Amino acid sequence: MTQVDTSLHSIPDGQTVLSVRHWDDRLFSFRVTRPSSLRFRSGEFVMLGLPGNNGKPILRAYSIASPFWDEELEFYSIKVQDGPLTSRLQRITPGDTVIVKTKPTGTLVLDALLPGRRVWMISTGTGVAPFASLLREPETYEKFDKVILTQTCRHKSELAYGEDLARSLPDDPLVGDEATRKFVRYATTTREPSERMGRITTLIETGELFGDLSVSGFDPTVDRMMICGSMGLNLDMKKILDDHGFSEGANSKPGEYVVERAFVD
Ligand code: A2P
Repeated sequence: MTQVDTSLHSIPDGQTVLSVRHWDDRLFSFRVTRPSSLRFRSGEFVMLGLPGNNGKPILRAYSIASPFWDEELEFYSIKVQDGPLTSRLQRITPGDTVIVKTKPTGTLVLDALLPGRRVWMISTGTGVAPFASLLREPETYEKFDKVILTQTCRHKSELAYGEDLARSLPDDPLVGDEATRKFVRYATTTREPSERMGRITTLIETGELFGDLSVSGFDPTVDRMMICGSMGLNLDMKKILDDHGFSEGANSKPGEYVVERAFVD
């Protein structure tokens, strides 16, 4: 096993790891110092990584899971045992250094959505990360009357990060009151029995999702959608939304839904 190099403080774009939490044997989150020059919009991603053996950094796109106003940065990651980056990144401890590039980008931002009444954040796996940022962003609650987060994972233990996030929202000093009134979490598993089971796409097609939430269905005049998950989820959700008459938005041209791949897989 290679040790993570802890003497990297002089590397360009190096940030100090402040805390690490392991959610199960496949998922972990960590907090790092925030580069003073980093400005981002909640929902965006940055390139993050570790120095490589040949001096060239190994970087991957990571959604920032903390909101824009937070003094620290939070990230949520999968652990891939033979992954070039996450096989090493999963062993970071407080005091270590990671590289965080300061050019944020991405389409899962409120600016890319037209005004609406309800916002749905549809995720699978680590795709919940950008929504962890947006759910602690006051503008989300200023713009929408109802904020629904769905997360689908294979197993129950993979839902723990989203569950913890949802549990913490009512106590959040900035969004707590609004979140208590407006936020709804809808979590499902596909390969282990749990309270709610099934792919979100199936639950939409059968209408079970709408029945569970007492909503009549998707309506492009009311609903705004943000999607972040596996390629399969993104494509299937796009098709469902296109069929319902929704148009895709971008930074340059806001629309009724936005999509981004959950990067680290
Ligand atoms: P399933 O177990 O039926 O494949 P993964 O771990 O492969 O990234 O998947 C994460 C979750 O996303 C799983 O619960 C998986 O369900 C679900 N999923 C995968 N592909 C799709 C898709 N095309 N549409 C909806 N959900 C999907």
